[in-house]
Amino acid sequence: MEFVLYEVKGQVGIITISREKALNALNSTVLEELDKTLDGVDLNEIRCLILTGAGEKSFVAGADIGEMSTLTKAEGEAFGKKGNDVFRKIETFPIPVIAAVNGFALGGGCELSMSCDIRICSENAVFGQPEVGLGITPGFGGTQRLARLVGPGMAKQMIYTARNIKADEAFRIGLVNAVYPQAELMAAAEKMAAGIAKNAPIAVRNCKKAINDGLEADMDEALVIEEKLFGDCFETEDQKYGMAFFLDKNKEKVKEPFQNK
Ligand code: CAA
Repeated sequence: MEFVLYEVKGQVGIITISREKALNALNSTVLEELDKTLDGVDLNEIRCLILTGAGEKSFVAGADIGEMSTLTKAEGEAFGKKGNDVFRKIETFPIPVIAAVNGFALGGGCELSMSCDIRICSENAVFGQPEVGLGITPGFGGTQRLARLVGPGMAKQMIYTARNIKADEAFRIGLVNAVYPQAELMAAAEKMAAGIAKNAPIAVRNCKKAINDGLEADMDEALVIEEKLFGDCFETEDQKYGMAFFLDKNKEKVKEPFQNK
């Protein structure tokens, strides 16, 4: 691929958007390659993904402004759908996705990070939705996911003013879970991913689905969603082993890896 790298470290897959000379801006090719990379992830082996940008300056500086500058209304709508489809694939991807935000996360970059399950960032990270300054709305999910993550009041302020915020403010408003020195960011992401990967995979996937699907339902329906996904874990080998391990009073025993069965 030209702009997207994929590396496997144990049970963790690392996707890097690598278009450094344009600060990893998302053109159509990047979006298509990201989509293909996700389709290629071996879900029998990989238990968590990390998504990051190449270099030390930018995660993703937005959708490609050059490519968008001449679009018609219909083409603009189609470009929005193209981004939305890939980002929704990330959001509903069966395994967790951690965004390691290593610099600018503007426009489509902020939106890409918000389609991930968890966001951590470096101290130099900058988040924002600058679209109204370009004469457009956020178009890859920003008007929807930002309000859900930080509340409508803060989302509206960020989107209407187009003001960027730094890492400490992103942390304060709950847009990111943690801030690290740049040099420590990937190690922190890999540590978190490995911590997720060692837990029972069917249970982790069902947690993601229960949280995502439940947030789109009313509480009565959401609790039924939870009950079904909770029930689905029983009779799996990992459930039987995990509980038997807890109940075994032999202090010398060593926990075996979960089998994803
Ligand atoms: N699209 C296309 N090219 C971009 C880009 C983008 N979103 N962001 C940066 N680049 C390019 C620049 O044009 C420049 O290319 P050249 O070297 O060929 O001139 C290169 O990346 C480096 O950028 P700068 O020279 O501007 O770097 P800087 O350090 O001075 O500024 C920045 C960094 C503040 C991030 C600035 O590049 C910037 O403001 N970028 C645009 C950010 C933005 O508005 N993003 C939202 C896009 S709209 C969107 O995403 C819509 C949507 O919701 C789907």
